[in-house]
Amino acid sequence: MSAAGDSGAAPPAAVELIRSKRDGGELAPDAIGWVLAGHLARTVGDEQMAALLMAIVWRGMSPGELAAWTGAMVRSGDRLDLSGLDRPTVDKHSTGGVGDKVSLVLAPLVAACGAAVPQLSGRGLGHTGGTLDKLESIAGFRADLDRTEVLRVLDEVGCVICAAGPDLAPADRRLYALRDITGTVESIPLIASSIMSKKVAEGTAALLLDVKVGRGAFMADRDGARVLARTMIGLGRAYGLRTTALLTAMETPLGRAVGNAVEVEESLELLGGGGPLDLRGLVLAEATAMLELAGIAVDPAAALDDGRALATFRQMVRAQGGDPDAPVPVGKTLARVDAVRDGWIERLDARAVGIAAWRLGAGRARAGDPVSPTAGVWCRAKPGEPVRRGETVLELVGDDPARVPAALDALQSAVVIGTRPLPEPAPSLVLERVEA
Ligand code: URA
Repeated sequence: MSAAGDSGAAPPAAVELIRSKRDGGELAPDAIGWVLAGHLARTVGDEQMAALLMAIVWRGMSPGELAAWTGAMVRSGDRLDLSGLDRPTVDKHSTGGVGDKVSLVLAPLVAACGAAVPQLSGRGLGHTGGTLDKLESIAGFRADLDRTEVLRVLDEVGCVICAAGPDLAPADRRLYALRDITGTVESIPLIASSIMSKKVAEGTAALLLDVKVGRGAFMADRDGARVLARTMIGLGRAYGLRTTALLTAMETPLGRAVGNAVEVEESLELLGGGGPLDLRGLVLAEATAMLELAGIAVDPAAALDDGRALATFRQMVRAQGGDPDAPVPVGKTLARVDAVRDGWIERLDARAVGIAAWRLGAGRARAGDPVSPTAGVWCRAKPGEPVRRGETVLELVGDDPARVPAALDALQSAVVIGTRPLPEPAPSLVLERVEA
């Protein structure tokens, strides 16, 4: 099959590229650059891009096509220049989970250990929640910073958690909005290029990927997650970004809090030396991997336990306009899901709990919708723990009782109570490490 859009030829018509990809052809780099630039400039319409995306979903992309596609997305905007910082840069990206508040603790922790962490994050869409929505429940916190502010906070504090500005990989922004409404999100090359183009544009030298696996994640199975991890690591290598991935379990919510302010509250518990053990274990595993990538030989547990990570978190909140001393908003208890019998929690479905928190108002149905800071779910019992009939397993909190029936509906079969204790739980949520 010949490559559509060979170098030197006149620009191809979009329909030729669609036909070529549909029939299993390989797109040439200049054709890829042309079609992505055209879509951003609106000379290639959404309907044609949607058809091309669907062809990519079915036919995939070769490594060469994928590298060219990612490069074109990076070149569609600016790149941050972090070379003026006096510390090694390292970031982490999670593919999204339920109760995944890791970034809130991890960024200040790794910064407290000597690295610079430029954590450019997204807002939540769907059931997995967004780091920025969580942080914005802190009074005054600003996630929308301009480039000068990003560099200033990074330089002064060592970490920043903010929105990727509109000038970083804008082609991905437009493409992602289209993928979201055309059933073309679930494609390994499209996911990998979307994530990695933003990370390359962000300018970090190293990157840890937390690829979630399980019912509450994008990738339900481990084989698919491994392929996604390898694909992103390959793109990292192509663009000079040192990348390692951890595949981590996402069958049940991480920690006990799912929502916005409730997750800030739990993150503060961890930063204060307490917090749930599953969350602490994952944060320390990720911090260790990030520090290795940054070439820093320091034990992150010490910085978590002696208050340095908390001090850095407070400094970051202040530098981003927030008040670290303001009380975190607390919602009313709106409903409870109680144990229907004595026994041990056998399963607590991450996806169902994520959907319930979303329906309570913690997440948004459409980009741009407001979210409720106080809406969420507290998991009062987790898998492996004993419960007695009538005891609370899930506590639904928030400010809008009208949302409760839909949230409870999502939880109908979320909790399974067994009659025997579970076998010993796995010691770590990290299932596997994937390296270049
Ligand atoms: N996150 C992204 O940034 N892009 C995707 O395609 C999927 C998840």
